[in-house]
Amino acid sequence: MTDAVSKRSVAFSAAQPTGHLTIGNLFGAINNWIPLQEHHDTLFCVVDLHALTVRQDPQELRKNTLELAAIYMAAGIDPEKSIVFIQSQVPQHSQLAWILSTFAQLGELERMTQFKDKSLRHRGNVNAGLFTYPVLMAADILLYKTNIVPVGEDQKQHLELTRDIAIRFNNIHGPVFTIPEPAIQSHGAARVRDLQNPEKKMSKSAESDLAKVMMLDDANTVLKKFKKAVTDSLGEIRFDETNQAGVTNLLSIWCAATGSNRETALAHFSHNQYGKLKVETAEAVNAVLEPIRQKYQMIMNDPTKLERILTHGAQQASAMAAIIMTQIHDVLGLPPLPGAYNRG
Ligand code: TYM
Repeated sequence: MTDAVSKRSVAFSAAQPTGHLTIGNLFGAINNWIPLQEHHDTLFCVVDLHALTVRQDPQELRKNTLELAAIYMAAGIDPEKSIVFIQSQVPQHSQLAWILSTFAQLGELERMTQFKDKSLRHRGNVNAGLFTYPVLMAADILLYKTNIVPVGEDQKQHLELTRDIAIRFNNIHGPVFTIPEPAIQSHGAARVRDLQNPEKKMSKSAESDLAKVMMLDDANTVLKKFKKAVTDSLGEIRFDETNQAGVTNLLSIWCAATGSNRETALAHFSHNQYGKLKVETAEAVNAVLEPIRQKYQMIMNDPTKLERILTHGAQQASAMAAIIMTQIHDVLGLPPLPGAYNRG
């Protein structure tokens, strides 16, 4: 995509470089990004500014940011078709976040479950950025007149807030923002669960390594983690989130990895043997991850090319963002941005 004023519908999504991605990120979000590239203008962002809300080691953050962009591409994001870029290289994200923070209400931000969870987990550092995090996320999305945002279920509340902020702004200042729609996978892939504690979602920040399968784990590690997955003693393989969250999670992962529906899964595992369910789920996941691992290595072998792609992506994103920022300055009564006169 090169045309900054294309008429195709726009899809935007992002992930935080707070470590490598899990298969939750893959099945819940990235797998949904890939087909959108064919018929939408697509932007995929590595949101390093969001990651700053939790203390980061600078070297690790720099490394994780580049590696995450490489993972996007290894998983099937094609920089010829999509804009792939790093959030902090497009300053309009922070500029719009400030403006939108004056359209978000304290009460709305206080209701965000992710803020409540994270402020409990990081008691020593409940910073203002953690609180206004969803406003930056709204800026990410609204900056590109995004129509569709493919995410996992945990981001639904943030998306609703984004819509509310956009509607409020438009009601006061006219139809500047497009109101985005979330696109959330159906069934279990929208919320892949922790293998050790299936009550929780699988998270990159889980303390136990056994709890999460990383996209770059080698085949043996993947197998070991699935073999140790927590199930139950009911001895039945069926979809039952309330009483069999672990088994249901494995079935959902198998469905996502093989592209099968629930009926096929139930027929396939009618033997009710948990051991086989675990091994076959690991094999199905490995079949998906193997080509991603190989492509990732190829991309990381040429860091200069990767950086070139990201610089180009930031320039393209910034050109798109400049259009709406000009409009926003105009409707709010801020002076035109330098250079805006030349853009006409
Ligand atoms: P992040 O980095 O936590 O996760 C990236 C994407 O993966 C999805 N996801 C999951 N889906 C299913 N099961 C899971 N266990 C699971 N864990 C994560 C997330 O829903 C997400 O789609 N705030 C966002 C990043 C962000 C963003 C944005 C996303 C910032 N700005 C604008 C969309 C649009 C986040 O922390 O995602």
